Amino acid sequence: MNIQQIDQTYVASTYGRMPVALVKGKGALAWDENGKEYIDLGAGIAVNTFGYSDDVWIQAVTEQLGKISHTSNLYYTSPDALLAKMLCEKTGMKKVFFGNSGAEANECAIKTARKWAYDQFGDESHSTIITLKNSFHGRTIATLAATGQDKFHTHFGPFPGGFVYATPEDPDELEKLASENACCAIMIELVQGEGGVVPLSQAYVDAVVAAAKKHGLLIIDDEVQTGNGRTGTLYTYMQYGFQPDIVSTAKGLGGGLPIGACLLGEKVQNTLTPGSHGSTFGGNPTSCAGALSILSRIDDELLKGVQEKSKYIFDTLSGAKGVQSVTGLGLMIGIACDKPVGEVLSVCLEKGVIVLSAHDKVRLLPPLSIPMEQLKKAIEVLKEALA
Ligand SMILES: Cc1ncc(COP(=O)(O)O)c(C=O)c1O
Repeated sequence: MNIQQIDQTYVASTYGRMPVALVKGKGALAWDENGKEYIDLGAGIAVNTFGYSDDVWIQAVTEQLGKISHTSNLYYTSPDALLAKMLCEKTGMKKVFFGNSGAEANECAIKTARKWAYDQFGDESHSTIITLKNSFHGRTIATLAATGQDKFHTHFGPFPGGFVYATPEDPDELEKLASENACCAIMIELVQGEGGVVPLSQAYVDAVVAAAKKHGLLIIDDEVQTGNGRTGTLYTYMQYGFQPDIVSTAKGLGGGLPIGACLLGEKVQNTLTPGSHGSTFGGNPTSCAGALSILSRIDDELLKGVQEKSKYIFDTLSGAKGVQSVTGLGLMIGIACDKPVGEVLSVCLEKGVIVLSAHDKVRLLPPLSIPMEQLKKAIEVLKEALA
């Protein structure tokens, strides 16, 4: 049996995979088992910030593997302490809880918001969290419930209650939900990723900030996909001019190893107490050493490059044949197209370019460090496939 047959026989059938087995990668390039080369505009779904097998990241990870690869959270280790310090210094947040994934970072955010309300009211009366329709917050039972898409609310019930869903760009509905429910938080993605790469407008985000202030609610900013330089600033809230109370992030932070982080702001910095939350692999020294090497290199120069490459993609594809719209921020881009998205993905793959989908759109999440020449070559292929 080849790799695909073994996988299809033994791996749970939760993924619709493309008919390719990737065996090697370097930067934005990947090779399949037959030696065919691809330019990858997906970066493992926004994970490989500096591309595949980045040398600096490999060195940081392997050095740490040779020192201490894992220990329990019963002891101190330096990579997670230094990573938490760097995250706080770069964001103005106060403390960090580490887990393994975006969903886990969001679980922590949900638990923190509810405990924060419990600590004030002495009961669970203010446990409701407003999330947005069309959002995506993860695959655990609670983060599925937080996700504002009906299709995620089947098969696995009963789901936990305590979530109400607001229509993006409708401040009146948000105000109504905040008034009619005993809430503790509003949870948003500033660019709805899985929902089709749709940025929230500045006016709507201002309304979210105003509603949170008026009703005494926390703002949870899900930056699992948008974070870590992806949209052209270190975190996307920095472009919208407000300070969230909780930021969840994952994906690109680890640069290829599993890590999730829940950043806690001033109001909630002491909400979680010993025993109230935890994760065996949370703060794993190897993942944290890799993340430190990633985070320390997301600097102004890299972010300027993200903005320039973004502009190139928008300029080249907006109004191109077969393209209905180009949306997104930085190197998180969605393309609504005339052709069925599956067809565009297949044609690109055939021609050596990997792109993703989100709903019925083509989605681009290239490594932030992709060289301009490789990006141009790949976008030409995509442009032809879209026409
Ligand atoms: C905004 C957002 N939140 C949460 C998640 C879940 O992250 P993970 O798959 O790491 O659990 C995702 C994954 O795509 C996401 O895009």
